[in-house]
Amino acid sequence: MNDRSTALADPIADDALTRPFTGASPYDSYVHASVLNSMQQPLTDAPDEMGFLVTTQVMELWFTLIVHEWRTARVAFAKDDLPAAMDALTRSRRALTALNGSWAPIAALTPAQFNGFRAAFGKASGFQSAMYRHLEFLLGDKSAGLLRSHRGDPAVHEALSETYREPSLYDEVLGFLHRQGLHVPMRVRERDVTQPYASDPGVVDVWREIYAGPQHHPHLALGELLTDIAELVTRWRFEHVLVVRRAMGSKPGSAGSSGLAWLEQRAARPVFPELWEVRGDV
Ligand code: HEM
Repeated sequence: MNDRSTALADPIADDALTRPFTGASPYDSYVHASVLNSMQQPLTDAPDEMGFLVTTQVMELWFTLIVHEWRTARVAFAKDDLPAAMDALTRSRRALTALNGSWAPIAALTPAQFNGFRAAFGKASGFQSAMYRHLEFLLGDKSAGLLRSHRGDPAVHEALSETYREPSLYDEVLGFLHRQGLHVPMRVRERDVTQPYASDPGVVDVWREIYAGPQHHPHLALGELLTDIAELVTRWRFEHVLVVRRAMGSKPGSAGSSGLAWLEQRAARPVFPELWEVRGDV
């Protein structure tokens, strides 16, 4: 055979690769690709609906991974296992970067394109995403009202109630820093963790010690990793606002909010507030 016919030969002539499986392939048994790929059921023939549905499903999966990593990090902080916590947070940072990249297929929907399928999904809205709420509760952004909205679905409500009652990832970070000898005020350590976390001047002092101290304070890398995470969450929220503004302007949302104005307010909520405040006074 000359070089050209070698290049054109069937690359998969090896018997081991083409031997039929008995039943589902090991890949499908592990990944459940056939289940996953059977869950895209657009309600219209509008050309943009499939991209909208798949993007939303993909984001749900990234939420699941991020929540998983933050839970892993939370357990590690509670055990004072900083390396395991940093590893989980680093993996979550990569997942957040992928999440934010997932806007691309729907980032430039025109109102007419969005209108092509909007009426069909009725009152459905990402606002009702339970996994996104787990993610926000883990950040410390607790809300009894947003938990209550899931009451109609007992299994979902129970799982979310657990995340609501537990300390957030940030609560565990602060507990860890306190045990490391940095003074986190008792009012913060013993706070009611079902309340939304609010900035505390004593915690600003803790981060000031880390940020203003020697160049390589041992916990500077932790502060920066948390800041990356806070920034990526905020970027997701603002990207969402931009996508909404392009696709539907200032029309009301399908879940019943005022739409854009409501989302802009939500996007402005600080994530790990003291990490941003400290930058102004170091
Ligand atoms: C054309 C695309 C989109 C539009 C026009 C849109 C619109 C909106 C609007 C208006 C709201 C406010 C609540 C309401 O009244 O419905 C909302 C909330 C929300 N959306 Fe979207 N959305 C889009 C894409 C997505 C995607 C792909 C996701 C991914 C899962 C998503 C997740 C969310 C979440 C989590 C909230 C709640 C935010 C919060 O509680 O602060 N959205 N969306």
